[in-house]
This record gives sequence, C-alpha cells and structure tokens, in this order.
Amino acid sequence: MTHKRSLILNENTHTLCELPILSGTTGPDVIDVETLYKQTGMFTYDPGFTSTASCSSTITYIDGEAGILLYRGYPIEQLAEKCTFLEVCYLLLNGELPSSTELLDFQSTITIHTMVHDQLTNFFKGFRRDAHPMAIMVGVVGALSAFYHDALDIKSKKDRDISAIRLIAKVPTIAAMCHKYSTGLPFMYPQNKLSYVENFMRMMLATPCDDFVPNPVLVRALDRILILHADHEQNASTSTVRLAGSSGANPYACITSGIACLWGAAHGGANEAVLNMLKEIADVSRIPSYIAKAKDKNDAFRLMGFGHRVYKNHDPRAKLMRATCHEVLTELGLHDDPLFKLALELERIALEDPYFIEKKLYPNVDFYSGIVFHALGIPSNMFTALFAMGRTVGWIAHWDEMIADPDQKIGRPRQLYTGSKMRNIPENHGKST
Ligand code: CMC
Repeated sequence: MTHKRSLILNENTHTLCELPILSGTTGPDVIDVETLYKQTGMFTYDPGFTSTASCSSTITYIDGEAGILLYRGYPIEQLAEKCTFLEVCYLLLNGELPSSTELLDFQSTITIHTMVHDQLTNFFKGFRRDAHPMAIMVGVVGALSAFYHDALDIKSKKDRDISAIRLIAKVPTIAAMCHKYSTGLPFMYPQNKLSYVENFMRMMLATPCDDFVPNPVLVRALDRILILHADHEQNASTSTVRLAGSSGANPYACITSGIACLWGAAHGGANEAVLNMLKEIADVSRIPSYIAKAKDKNDAFRLMGFGHRVYKNHDPRAKLMRATCHEVLTELGLHDDPLFKLALELERIALEDPYFIEKKLYPNVDFYSGIVFHALGIPSNMFTALFAMGRTVGWIAHWDEMIADPDQKIGRPRQLYTGSKMRNIPENHGKST
C-alpha cells in the first residue's frame, strides 16, 4: 500500500525528488526508489543490503529486534510444536496449512518422488571420493534439470508445482547419496513406508547389512530442525535463488545456486564451522583465549554460531534448537560428553561477556544445530547439506512467488564505479622499447 511521499534533495543539482513510501502488513515501511535514478541521476548505495528491501513477499516475516519469526503469519514456536516438516512445506508453498486429506495427498506425492533417476547415480562417479558433500550436491542437484525436460516451462504453474515436489522429495535422497559416496558405502534407496525424516535417516545412517530402527525422539528432533531451517525471508541464499531465477533460469539451476551460496561459513556453512571450532578449542580451559581472539580487531577469528544480521535479540530458532539439543543429548545420554560440555560452557561464557552483550551477539541456529547433528551421528561435512534439505522448500516457495508475479523483472543491481576513468591504450603498446 502506498500512503505517503518522501522528499529527497540532491545537493549537487538542487533537485527535489518525490518518492512513494510503501507499507506492508507489518514491519518497517520502505521508500520506493524505483524512479530515483530517473528523477535525480543518482543510485542508492547499500552493498550488504542492510537497508534495502529487494522485493515484496507474503511468505516469511522476521522482527529481528523482538526475536519474532513467522511463516505465512504463524509463529515458528507454534509450527515447531504442532506441525510436521511436510505440513510446513505445504504451508510455505500454498499459503495455508493443509487439511488432513490435503496433507495425506501431499505426503504421498512427496514420497513417490523420493527416488532419483537411476542414471543420476553415474554423476557421483565423476567426483573424487574425498570431495566435500556440498560440492557434490551443487553438481548433482544442478544435473536434475537434465532429467526433467517434460516440466521446465516456468510460466506453467503445473510445471512449477511438480518441480517443487521433485526438489523437496529428491534433495534428501541426493544428500544421503553424497555422504554414502564420500564414505565408500552403497547408496540406500528410499522406502515408501517410511516418513520423510525416517527415510532420510535410513538412507544416511543405515547400510544394507543393518536394519534401521527409527528412534521417535530423534526423528521428531530432526523433523523440527528442518522446520526451523525451512525459510528465513531474503537471506543470502534465497536472494541468490531469486536473482538466478529472475533471468528465467530453470528451478533446478536456481536451487543449485542457493545451495552454493548456503555453503559459505557466514551463512549455512557456519554449522560445520561450529563443530570444527569446538574441536580446535578442544578444552574448556582454552575458551578464554578463543573469546579473546574473537574480540581482537586484528584477528580474523569469529566465534562461529554467534551473531546474526537480522536478530539483535535471541534468534527464536536458536531457542527452539537449544531445547531440541537438550532433548537429543538426554535421549542419547550425552550430557557428559566432553564436546557437548565444551559447547555449553562456551555458550555460557559468551552470553556473559560484555563484548557479546554490547554487540548483541547471541548464539544462532547454527550453534546448536551443529551440536545436535553431531549427536545424531551425522558427520560434520554433512551439516550444511542438512540445512540445504530444510531450506529447499523456502527457496522454491520464493522462486515460485517471484515467477508468478506479473511485474517480475530481471534483477540487475547497479554499482558505484571506482576504477580508472576512460583512457587510451598507448600507441607503443606491445612494441619492444
Ligand atoms: N564473533 C565475534 N565478533 C562478531 C561476530 C562473531 N561471531 N559476529 C559479529 N561480530 C562483530 C563484528 O566484528 C562487528 O564488530 P564491529 O562493530 O566492532 O566492527 C559487529 O559484531 C557486527 O558484525 P558484522 O559482521 O558487521 O555483522 P553482519 O550482520 O554483517 O554479520 C554474521 C552477521 C552472521 C555474518 C556474523 O555475525 C558472523 O560472521 N557470525 C559467525 C558466522 C555465523 O554463525 N553465521 C551463521 C548465521 S545464522 C544462520 C544463517 O542465517 O545462515
């Protein structure tokens, strides 16, 4: 909704420019700068997008000051307590929670798409055994577009819906295959009688030699973790998916761009980095020296799993993840494990430290997810792949929302150029002197 106009003065040309202010349903108003360049000849400059809304969206809302996260209006706390991951997927994709019949239908549609085309297994053989699972994921998820020529018309809602189903169903299968390949174990095929999370745990953790017996506490914990990762409005990987999709690229290519972006340690790669950091700290007695390193301006070290661009209060996902973490540690009798003791002590010390308090650096979702994944027996190089599994639905919901928007344009930011002014190549260039 447009409700008022903002005036901006260009001091160089002394031109006044009028810009509309837009209001959403909740959250800060935004100044619509679409006509700014036309009116003033100037661009806006905001390299980390700290003050820039890149789109409008109806999917997810975050109030970072109040620690609020809503998917389609529902608080994350209620979704984590009362819903399954697949219900949340349905909600993110369709805008409303499913009825029981809609849920059954959705679950069975996802289930029957969990198997991958058998020829896709050939792609794995091209990777070295020691390749990082995320490197393999980027290649193999991208390769999916080579298998679905039948449904790549992005203007067709039917094609977009089937692509969403295929991605949500197959990404866990591919993630588990990445792990099996890098450990030299045989791929485990999905089983239709199992739930989404049971299926993934079996494909990931079981072998043909052992029966898989799901532990309901651990299955529920992983299901909740996926809910907590399902969407987070215009974060780096989702913005990457939107930008890739804005050119008309196919959904598999777009989701792959999101997976690649997620891998970075400042984003989803932080969960793996947390565990590596805990292993490096190794002993409670060494925590103070690492806290000192994190505070030292001349040291690039950061406490992984702490801080967030948007949350300047507790990350609501981290609160829920912390509770899940304790449930899992209790279920597995791991509270006395040295690594977990170390993590909990680090959390305690950092939360009491004035540097972290002043800068509002709280443990984020990745701090606890790394610990839970480790407790579940998932190797650390797979942590970000699990984040990608949860986030796939968010990426695809944003991609679909963008493509369905009749006013959608290719994303094309501008820049502040600071390079050489125009110059000529010298006459004697390339001639020996
Ligand atoms: N350890 C030590 N100092 C920190 C940390 C940290 N983890 N995070 C931020 N700071 C300091 C930073 O040095 C800066 O200090 P100053 O104002 O004196 O220059 C101040 O806090 C603000 O930091 P920033 O880098 O300007 O903040 P940002 O919004 O650009 O970065 C962040 C957010 C998440 C990238 C950053 O906090 C970080 O690198 N954290 C560690 C990595 C991490 O856990 N990432 C997962 C994020 S949550 C999951 C997800 O959404 O992907």
